[in-house]
Amino acid sequence: MSNARFITLEGLDGAGKSTHLTFIRQWLQQQGIDAVFTREPGGTPLGEKLRDILLDIDTDATLDTETLLMFASRQELISTVIRPQLAAGKWVVSDRFTDATFAYQGGGRGVPAERIAVLEHWVQQGLQPHLTILLDVPLEVARARLEGSRLPDRFEQEREDFHQRVRQMYLARAQANPQRFLVLDASSELAAIQQRIAAALAALQDAG
Ligand SMILES: Nc1ncnc2c1ncn2[C@@H]1O[C@H](COP(=O)(O)OP(=O)(O)O)[C@@H](O)[C@H]1O
Ligand SMILES: [Mg+2]
Repeated sequence: MSNARFITLEGLDGAGKSTHLTFIRQWLQQQGIDAVFTREPGGTPLGEKLRDILLDIDTDATLDTETLLMFASRQELISTVIRPQLAAGKWVVSDRFTDATFAYQGGGRGVPAERIAVLEHWVQQGLQPHLTILLDVPLEVARARLEGSRLPDRFEQEREDFHQRVRQMYLARAQANPQRFLVLDASSELAAIQQRIAAALAALQDAG
């Protein structure tokens, strides 16, 4: 049971979260580690409905409402997926988690971190990822990768300065929590990044 690990992937759209999630899935499978994979916002039937609302460019929501919807989705994911799976000894890997709320709603939109922290304590009750992989990438690189791939969602369509603030808040969070974060230069070669991720996963497997 104590073998269970909770890992989150963070970074701008186009940083490589989905790509490296696939790598992590393969690595864990090779090690014979039972794992479940999820994403935020979403990951549950209700959460996916909230995701549709949150990413829809036609959605109008005040800042606090947007933040509360993010945490509503998170509460559902924690209660019905993350806690039960960890209790069953499984590894849980999530494409985004609470650091994204601090980065997007906090850094990007300007919701004070103290307000977000209140909700974090409410829904997480001390639950934190064992490892958060921050895929840090210059905005231009992320943009170029996404070019023409699909229509931008409600966050992707934000202006450049919004995304710069998101990136800086992610880096600030990493600096404040160095024991939890692994910050990787996501503009480097895939193989080099994956080597670092594999090493971190192996260390996590050996720990405790
Ligand atoms: N290190 C990298 N070098 C080159 N291309 C990359 C790298 N990481 C991701 N990509 C490409 O960038 C695009 C966006 O990656 P993706 O994993 O979907 O990012 P995210 O899930 O963070 O939005 C994909 O086409 C992917 O193949
Ligand atoms: Mg993705």
